[in-house]
Amino acid sequence: MTTRNEHPLTIPAIRATKVRHGNDPLVMVTAYDAPTAQLAVAAGVDLILVGDSLGTAILGYDSTVPVTVDDMLHHLKAVRRGAPGAHIIVDLPFGSFQESDAQAIASAVKLMKQGGADAVKLEGGRRMANRVRALTGAGIPVVGHVGLTPQTAGLLGGYRVQGRDLATAQAVIDDARAIADAGAYCLVVEVVPSLIGQRITEQVDIPVIGIGAGPATDGQVLVWTDLAGLTTGHKPRFVHAYADLAGNLQDAFAQFASEVRSGAYPKPEHEYATPRALIDALEVTE
Ligand code: KIV
Repeated sequence: MTTRNEHPLTIPAIRATKVRHGNDPLVMVTAYDAPTAQLAVAAGVDLILVGDSLGTAILGYDSTVPVTVDDMLHHLKAVRRGAPGAHIIVDLPFGSFQESDAQAIASAVKLMKQGGADAVKLEGGRRMANRVRALTGAGIPVVGHVGLTPQTAGLLGGYRVQGRDLATAQAVIDDARAIADAGAYCLVVEVVPSLIGQRITEQVDIPVIGIGAGPATDGQVLVWTDLAGLTTGHKPRFVHAYADLAGNLQDAFAQFASEVRSGAYPKPEHEYATPRALIDALEVTE
């Protein structure tokens, strides 16, 4: 099977990828380290997102707000080393783009020059349209993110479905159109009713990648720890766990602990033989 990332996707190729043009849906997963990125590429994933979900998935924070540009850079570099040819998008974390166009450009340039990102993603709708315009005007490829925007979940009343009544549904659609018009080449839409995911996909000319936005978008993204069953605790409705990594890992740790305590590990096949000459030499010195 030929996967798209045998020939890494260019931005014009991604822009041209709309389901309604008869293409396969885009597949995006998050990654935060080299081996995960390498496995995602080997599995045929199209796009890798170094998401600021890093904060909750890996760093142990209870939101994405504390994540810094330097946190993102550290993990982005590892992902780039694991997936040298992949199309990698990195999140601009909270506080790294809100102040001014200059601040957003400086954060994005740092992540692209030092971390090797192909593009940045930033959260926000109409109020961020001019920021997206400034970034793209400076030659920085931008992915938008509307609907549920975790960095500002507090303003939205928590991690809840967006666009469930006419006024808020229209607001999410307007947000999506504003970000597409501002020059983003791709758009993430998070946790909206499926019909709103469909309407946005129909109304913007750039690929829409959904997460909890129904089946009609141009692609789907999941946080890798969710899709692999490594996340414990609350599981959003849109998550499907394709593996039970938490269970498997805990079993492996428990089995290791039990075998160390019983003496069953290490076995002879795990040992390095002591050379005869060394045994003789040690005998002489004793
Ligand atoms: O940070 C992240 O992982 C994201 C995805 C949920 C789209 O933004």
